[in-house]
Amino acid sequence: AIALRASARTKGLLFGAAVNYNNLSSDQAYANLVAQQCGILVPANELKWQALRPSPTQFNFTRADWMAQFARRNGMLFRGHTLVWHNGLPNWFAKTVNKQNAEKFLREHISRVAGHYAGQMHSWDVVNEAIEPRVQRADKLRNTPWLRFLGPDYIDLAFRMAAEADPRAILMYNDFGVEHDTPQAETKRNAILRLLERLKSRGTPIQALGVQGHLFGHPNGVKFTQIGRFLRNIADMGLEIMITELDVNDQQLPRDPAIRDRAVAKIYADFLEVVLDQPAVTAVITWGISDRYTWLASTKPRKDGAGLRPLPFDAQLKPKPAWQSLTSAIAQA
Ligand code: G3I
Repeated sequence: AIALRASARTKGLLFGAAVNYNNLSSDQAYANLVAQQCGILVPANELKWQALRPSPTQFNFTRADWMAQFARRNGMLFRGHTLVWHNGLPNWFAKTVNKQNAEKFLREHISRVAGHYAGQMHSWDVVNEAIEPRVQRADKLRNTPWLRFLGPDYIDLAFRMAAEADPRAILMYNDFGVEHDTPQAETKRNAILRLLERLKSRGTPIQALGVQGHLFGHPNGVKFTQIGRFLRNIADMGLEIMITELDVNDQQLPRDPAIRDRAVAKIYADFLEVVLDQPAVTAVITWGISDRYTWLASTKPRKDGAGLRPLPFDAQLKPKPAWQSLTSAIAQA
């Protein structure tokens, strides 16, 4: 079978995955699969503040650098996740960062981190998950330390700082919760459109939107009819689009693994059919690649205790129906 990185490439697309240093560096068979399938590599955690900054004055790039080297050795592009997020912060953050010094911390972080990889990063998630549809504010900006300390302009500021530190990387806003046909997703899609329009109108250097693609199965089935128009609106603004964290939460799907794998594969296929119809979409990146290692196992375990099967390869590293969905969708793109 042809690897996803190769089939994607023939269509001018990128396929890749986000993985953890621990798994990649200790599991040779897994590392081989990642190298074989992925044309772009994303450290799932190693570029977060928590991982890079043991103290307010220290930066530790050891693990992220190892992953950058793994990508280079295997002819893969390397993608940065993430410079500004309300999560993944070190414990010292809350005790140290305040209204008075927040801009200094943000500037130092972005210039040190984006500067460290300048010229080597394909793209950066400059700001991650800044919108929360349930807040009262009209702009739906999430209540984060950055918003409290710097106001809504923290987003513009971060993009300007990133462009200064690495003028070559594609600078992205990345978020989840826009994929399914739900009222809350519609609120989020509208808030993201308004945010991106505001950034563009001010000349803020942003080039792409990351749609995470954390999908979930539901016993009654799920639909992706509304996201097509959203992606068109994004493309009309002149922005590129990448699917950045694709997986399917199968927590609520039937226990039988064969039935479950088919249901998960159908969700991959239905989503990718809509998404890859949009020419502005340039990359499909999964959050993990094998069911052997998935963030869902600890955060969204099944009630029946059966292992989760959200990714294109099973825990034995064998391709699943979801892999076939990816291959077919890419072939038809
Ligand atoms: O590395 C430390 C370790 O030193 C410590 O002993 C241990 C004890 O808790 O924690 C380890 O850090 C954990 C880290 O994963 C690495 O394993 C954090 O506690 C844990 O919170 C962290 O979870 C990650 C989460 O983001 C928060 O950063 C998940 O692995 C990761 O899959 C998840 O990824 C997010 C994306 O960044 C953004 N979009 C949603 C996605 C899924 O939630």
